[in-house]
Amino acid sequence: MPALDSYVTLGRSGLRVSPLTLGTMTFGEDWGWGADPETSHQLLSTYLDAGGNSIDTANIYTNGHSEKIVGDFLAARPGLRDRVVLGTKFFGNLHLGDPNGGGAGRKSLIEQCEQSLRRLQTDYVDLLWLHNWDRSTPIEETLRALDDLVRDGKVRYLGFSDVPAWVASEAQTIAHFRGWSPVVALQVEYSLLARTVEGAQIPMARAHGMGVMPWSPLKNGHLSGKYRRDRAVPEDSRRAGMVSGTSEAECAVVDEVDAVAAELGAAPAAVAIAWVMGRPGVASTLLGARTPKQLQANLTALDVTLDDVQRARLDAVSVPALEFPAQYLAHAPILQFAGATVDGVTHAANPPLAGSRTRY
Ligand SMILES: NC(=O)c1ccc[n+]([C@@H]2O[C@H](COP(=O)([O-])OP(=O)(O)OC[C@H]3O[C@@H](n4cnc5c(N)ncnc54)[C@H](OP(=O)(O)O)[C@@H]3O)[C@@H](O)[C@H]2O)c1
Repeated sequence: MPALDSYVTLGRSGLRVSPLTLGTMTFGEDWGWGADPETSHQLLSTYLDAGGNSIDTANIYTNGHSEKIVGDFLAARPGLRDRVVLGTKFFGNLHLGDPNGGGAGRKSLIEQCEQSLRRLQTDYVDLLWLHNWDRSTPIEETLRALDDLVRDGKVRYLGFSDVPAWVASEAQTIAHFRGWSPVVALQVEYSLLARTVEGAQIPMARAHGMGVMPWSPLKNGHLSGKYRRDRAVPEDSRRAGMVSGTSEAECAVVDEVDAVAAELGAAPAAVAIAWVMGRPGVASTLLGARTPKQLQANLTALDVTLDDVQRARLDAVSVPALEFPAQYLAHAPILQFAGATVDGVTHAANPPLAGSRTRY
């Protein structure tokens, strides 16, 4: 795996980011399971000292406290702010009862950006993300307001998060033809326990020049090695008190991660993160950690190299059920090319579906 200072360009852009981005949803204690400011600053130091340059936060994380913690850290270190790629998100409403306090309308998102800049104590963010789809605002309005923020120098690049693929696709096409700032990155949930984004989101991102930044690569810690079928949920974890609800299929994935980790002498979390990092379309994977020890373990994903057999085992045990037409279309080349080799892909002369009762 590449080192933290083996930077990659994010999507179809010239923005260089580390292959792992430091997530800061765990910064601040307002949500009951985060780190205090001092520990959060240790996490930032550990990541940056190792060569990392990309930090992800959001206005809504611990109700603004996460941004404040990051802003205090950067403000205390002159010159550092311009060296890091600082991303934040708008959408989450911090002013309950005010219908324009959140969402993606022009009034709302410009004000949210201004408030984020104040908490982060900076004049600009490198990446501004639409955190969720706002189904009641026309996408043109959101895009045009975002483009104004870029032109005003308050934002360098744009990203989308948790938006239906058809919306992101439509938005990118509109931005392209109107000459507005493009969306260069996409945040989606992606891990060995959450792979449905392989159906539409990731192919869409690759086609539209959006670098994928997977979030929750450990499925909230589920793939860290501490959740096992025969063990109680640790008291100090974010999942404490939740009904476990882990299915047999999910346990099988955890078992396979453990088995590969044992073969490599690696931490299960490192194996799970390395699997995500190596998936097509993935640019920079978001790390979540509450303690320096967790962060150190997760950074060792950079030392893990999964061979083809190990990757195939992990792929097989976690294979997702994709929404129509992804699975249906997997057979289309066989039907279309009838045994010929096209674009370097050879398709069997006798399709595996021949003889099945399915008719196309
Ligand atoms: N765009 C979005 O909608 C969205 C949504 C979610 C997250 N994100 C971003 O993605 C980042 C990562 O998400 P995430 O925090 O959910 O990631 P995650 O890696 O799936 O989960 C992180 C949590 O797992 C536990 N953990 C992590 N490493 C561990 C280790 N080595 N050993 C044992 N436990 C470990 C810790 O929780 P406990 O110690 O409490 O168990 C930690 O807070 C966030 O910080 C945020 O920046 C974005």
